[in-house]
Parts: sequence; structure tokens; C-alpha cells
Amino acid sequence: MKAIVHHEYGSPDVLKLVEVDTPAPTDDEVLVRIHAASINGSDREGLIGKPLYARLGGLRKPGHPILGSDISGRVERVGRNIREFQPGDEVYGEVPGYHGGFAEYACLPVNRLAQKPASLTFEQASAIPQAGVIALQWVRQKRQIRPGEKVLINGAGGGAGTFALQLAKLHGAEVTAVDNAGKMDFLRSLGADHVIDYTRQDFTRTGTQYDRILDVVAHRSVFAYKRALRPDGTYYFVGGSVGVLFQILLLGPWIRRTSGRNIRLLTVQPNRNDMISIAELCEAGKIIPVIDRSYPLKETPEALRYVEEGRAKGKVIITV
Ligand SMILES: NC(=O)c1ccc[n+]([C@@H]2O[C@H](COP(=O)([O-])OP(=O)(O)OC[C@H]3O[C@@H](n4cnc5c(N)ncnc54)[C@H](OP(=O)(O)O)[C@@H]3O)[C@@H](O)[C@H]2O)c1
Repeated sequence: MKAIVHHEYGSPDVLKLVEVDTPAPTDDEVLVRIHAASINGSDREGLIGKPLYARLGGLRKPGHPILGSDISGRVERVGRNIREFQPGDEVYGEVPGYHGGFAEYACLPVNRLAQKPASLTFEQASAIPQAGVIALQWVRQKRQIRPGEKVLINGAGGGAGTFALQLAKLHGAEVTAVDNAGKMDFLRSLGADHVIDYTRQDFTRTGTQYDRILDVVAHRSVFAYKRALRPDGTYYFVGGSVGVLFQILLLGPWIRRTSGRNIRLLTVQPNRNDMISIAELCEAGKIIPVIDRSYPLKETPEALRYVEEGRAKGKVIITV
């Protein structure tokens, strides 16, 4: 099969379209012929090898050469123990380990796969798994977001951010969306009540405090995040610098004890039911999977360059 591979960390230039062996499903897996794969922040991180957690699979060179986790397509073949899917079924899901999706075929276990709703295109379905589930698990953390809560999303214009913004609005929150200047009107069009251009303003220094913050690009100190929280507010780190991550692990409990403010990591659990819940909201027209543009598989380097340049609004899709 054809696949986009990389054998070193670096810019999109290190990506190559090559022939590799088609994966064979185990007894508990489904082989999917991929129609679309969406780009996540984790693909960009896996390509450049930064932050450091992106090198967990291989410190000096990529442990797995094929990036891409969120896919949709048709079932080609099923393992011996699979009853739920049959060849020809239209499906979408998340390849475990954040790799293997920028290719013609991938194998997925059943708990990462769902039937694609007929009303969603392959592109739309591939936009859902990682980004939609991050957003849903954030909205449901501790207790569901309540109407009137002041919420801030840092990195609101990307994959997880655009789902999170729409979900927070659906729950009646007052949403501040942070991203680059080129995305301000776009974020307002998705329902943001307030927008902040991160290149001009630091959201932790505006004087406004929030009940709940989602951060997919964290790079400030925990004390800055504490400043931006209401006394009983919670900040969730989803992605960003490893330095911030360690600060949260070390100082988060102390900040909580001394100020009541909760600064913590959100470890997202891949969850099939959550993936289906997001797809149902999309089917019902309550939220939309925001797709900026699509590129054919062979142009994956261009697609990642477009994302890297800070122009992508929502998701960029690879069509296979
Ligand atoms: N915690 C977990 O369990 C878990 C699980 C899966 C994934 N993740 C993490 O989730 C994150 C993925 O998010 P995603 O897929 O939504 O990423 P994404 O689509 O790349 O979106 C990131 C957004 O943040 C914006 N941004 C960049 N720098 C910023 C800054 N300094 N301040 C504010 N916004 C900024 C980007 O804009 P530009 O266009 O300007 O760059 C982009 O719109 C990754 O870090 C991944 O590792 C975590």
C-alpha cells in the first residue's frame, strides 16, 4: 500500500510517499481501507519531535514511521473474533498510538471504531475522534459546564478547540476564544463571545478570571494560569510544553491546597462512546466538524506546511 513515512524528526520535507506492506489484522482487529484522515496537533508534534512527549515512541528517531491517527473509510477485512463489523461497512475511528493513519490501510481494534453515520461525509467523520473526544471529556470533567460559566479556550481555532468552543456554547457558557489574529472572525462565527489574539495579548494578564480553561498549547507558568482562574476555577492542560506539565504535577496540588484553584492535566481516554456522542451531535446539526481544506495523500507535506503556517481553521484533511 502507499503511505506517507518519516524516518527522522523535522519539517514536512522529511515526509515521503512510499510503498509499504499492508498491515494484516489480528483476530481482534479490523482492516480499514482509508478514505480520509484528519491532521491533529499530535501529528505535527510527532513530525517535529516536540514537545518531548512526542518522542515517547523513539527518542532519536520516530518509533513508528507513519503519522496519522484519526481515519474514516470502508472495512476491507475483519479478524476472526469480530462480529460487529463486516467488509464494506463505512466506519471511522482512532488508530491506537497516534500513528498509521496517513496510508491506504490501517488496522483498528473494535473499541476504537464506530459505524459512520450516513449523513456525515468521510472527511467530516475523520475530523471527530481525537479532537471531538478531547473537547467532550473536557466539557464533562468533574461536572458538566453550567450555563453562564466563564470559559476560556487557548488554541480555540484548531481541531480540539473548535469542538470545545461549540460544546461550551451548547452548554450555555460565556466563551473566550484565544488564537492568532487571522482566526478572530472565524471564532466569532462559531459562537465565541470574546476573542483574544495570542500574538498581541496574554490572556493571563487581562484581569479577567475564568471558571474553566482548556489549554491545548500551554507554555506559561502555573502562576500565570492561577492568576486567570476564579477562586474555585479549574485549568486543564491538554497539550503544550513538558516544562509546564512538570510544573503542574509538582505545584498543582499545592496551589489547590493554598488557593482552591485547580490546575491539572487532562488525560484524555480514547472512548468509542464519546466519539459516537460527538458524531450524534454533528448529525443533529448541534455542532459541526469544522473542515478548512483537504489534500490528497501525496500532498500530506503541503497539508502539514499549511497547518504549520498558522492558517488552518479547524481541521485539515488528507483524502486517500
Ligand atoms: N492530554 C491528552 O490526553 C491528549 C490526547 C491527545 C492529544 N493531546 C494534545 O492535544 C493537542 C492537540 O490539539 P489540536 O489537535 O486541537 O491542535 P491544533 O489543531 O494544532 O490546534 C492548535 C491551535 O492552537 C493555536 N495556537 C498555537 N500557538 C498558540 C498560542 N501560543 N496561544 C494560543 N493558541 C495557539 C494554533 O494556531 P496557529 O495556527 O497559530 O498555530 C491552532 O489553532 C496536542 O498538543 C496533543 O498532544 C492531548
